[in-house]
Amino acid sequence: MSELILDKSRWGWWQSAVFYQIYPKSFLDTTGSGVGDLKGITQRLDYLQQLGISGIWLSPVFRSPQVDNGYDISDYCAIDPLFGSMEDMEELIAEGKKRNISIILDLVLNHCSDQHPWFLEAKKSRENPFHDYFLWKDGDGITPPNEMRACFGGPAWTYVPEIGQWYFHQFAPQQPDLNWTNPAMRQALYRAIRFWVDKGVEGFRLDVIDQIGKDPDLQITGNGPRLHEYLRELSAAAFREPGIVTVGEAWGADVERAKRYSNPDCSELSMVFQFQHIGLDQQEGKEKWDTKPLYLPDLKRCLAHWQNGLHGCGWNSLFMNNHDLPRVVSRWGNDGVYRVKSAKMLATMLHGMEGTPYIYQGEELGMTNIKLPIGEYRDLEILNIYKERMAKGCREEDVMASIYARGRDNARTPMQWTDSENAGFTTGTPWIEVNPNYTAINAAAEEKDPDSVLNYYKQMITLRKSHLGLIYGSFQLLAEENPQVFAYRRTLAETGENYLIACNFSDKDAAFTIPADFAGARHLIGNYPDTAPAGAVTLRPYEAFVLQK
Ligand code: GLC
Repeated sequence: MSELILDKSRWGWWQSAVFYQIYPKSFLDTTGSGVGDLKGITQRLDYLQQLGISGIWLSPVFRSPQVDNGYDISDYCAIDPLFGSMEDMEELIAEGKKRNISIILDLVLNHCSDQHPWFLEAKKSRENPFHDYFLWKDGDGITPPNEMRACFGGPAWTYVPEIGQWYFHQFAPQQPDLNWTNPAMRQALYRAIRFWVDKGVEGFRLDVIDQIGKDPDLQITGNGPRLHEYLRELSAAAFREPGIVTVGEAWGADVERAKRYSNPDCSELSMVFQFQHIGLDQQEGKEKWDTKPLYLPDLKRCLAHWQNGLHGCGWNSLFMNNHDLPRVVSRWGNDGVYRVKSAKMLATMLHGMEGTPYIYQGEELGMTNIKLPIGEYRDLEILNIYKERMAKGCREEDVMASIYARGRDNARTPMQWTDSENAGFTTGTPWIEVNPNYTAINAAAEEKDPDSVLNYYKQMITLRKSHLGLIYGSFQLLAEENPQVFAYRRTLAETGENYLIACNFSDKDAAFTIPADFAGARHLIGNYPDTAPAGAVTLRPYEAFVLQK
């Protein structure tokens, strides 16, 4: 059955797929450079096949000065030598296909690098044909055109004295925003995308896609007035084949918007990454650096709203971490004594829902956050926030506490393959510190241990592929106010399948009542060896299971 629904030439194959995100710099280095590379990914395809995934979302490997680790592209159709060659990429695509693993490239279409030939031309003169590929404002070089701020700190405008104009950038000054109102610029991007489709790439993750319709005159960044028009044009021009999967990063998405993005008429995208659940442990009205403890009923209500809101009229992507977010086991689980139990619990909670799950590299091992001295961090966002907050007079320990909790480098430390030096990631000097817990947490050890997080992920993925109801069933939240337990039902009327997923999010026992109709149900998977009985039960710390009736 799973092969039937995973037929990759069909629209919708990705609904029954599980994807895996690779941050290439930190995955596996085969040259001793200290930086991961494409050959390293090809070498580990067997590992990924055994995990059970159907596709890899590959963070950018295009030519780039690497100011933002590849999210600043200077050539959309070339591989950065840091990661290898075009032949290495072709080999990865071909070897992936042999194992039924699709390659999904990360496209940064909102902005490019200030070293991209388009920008180098654009800043030569106002008459240059590429000038209008970007967004400019006249000025004196002293006062920016307006008070808009860039995401990584500082003003959203940088001055080019040679032409007496400011250019607009929502991220770093080295990431000038592309001008989507210019049809020639849009066509140039579509040609670059087709280059990769012709090479056999089967999908794309679209970086900050809800920001392409920006209008700096109106101080609009996300959800601009022409956003959906652009997406429909992009989709028709570049994603014509029914098997191509697209997932847009959309920080500003709500359920109503997501229905448009992921409308089954395929006119826009396959699905979007929404972030409403990700912001719940952030202080109201503040930035991500100001954290507060997660209140579980908020998370349950939020995810239930997405599950029910898109059922039958859109499609969810399911994720808890990525290269921009801290490690989930440290964030919502417990990276101390209950690390293994809580990592499995979180996997159960996520993979039991409707949508396409995304695993971020190392999540399947239960990899954790890291605490480094400020000089060891590499991420420009962390370094900017440190500078800004210290300049404002914040206490250093408070600034560091925020960085430990939310810094992007938590997710970017090298993949932990073995317990040998540098976790088997490189024979050279790693570009960023390896988490010292690699001697205990690593893939080689987990492969051998039947109770490891890794083996649980394998079972969970297999389970999902073989149970249609877990893929397509409707969702019903149970015990909404229970502050410890996240429980829900999945039901597929067509096949008569019923599932109960129950997860204790705390390190204490939790009372929960299994609904009467699950008496005598089959225990499909769980992170404690013995089956939960029916009726009123006590869920042990971080206990999770799936029952089928
Ligand atoms: C996205 C990426 C992030 C990057 C930013 C600018 O949010 O995920 O890593 O820094 O866009 O491209």
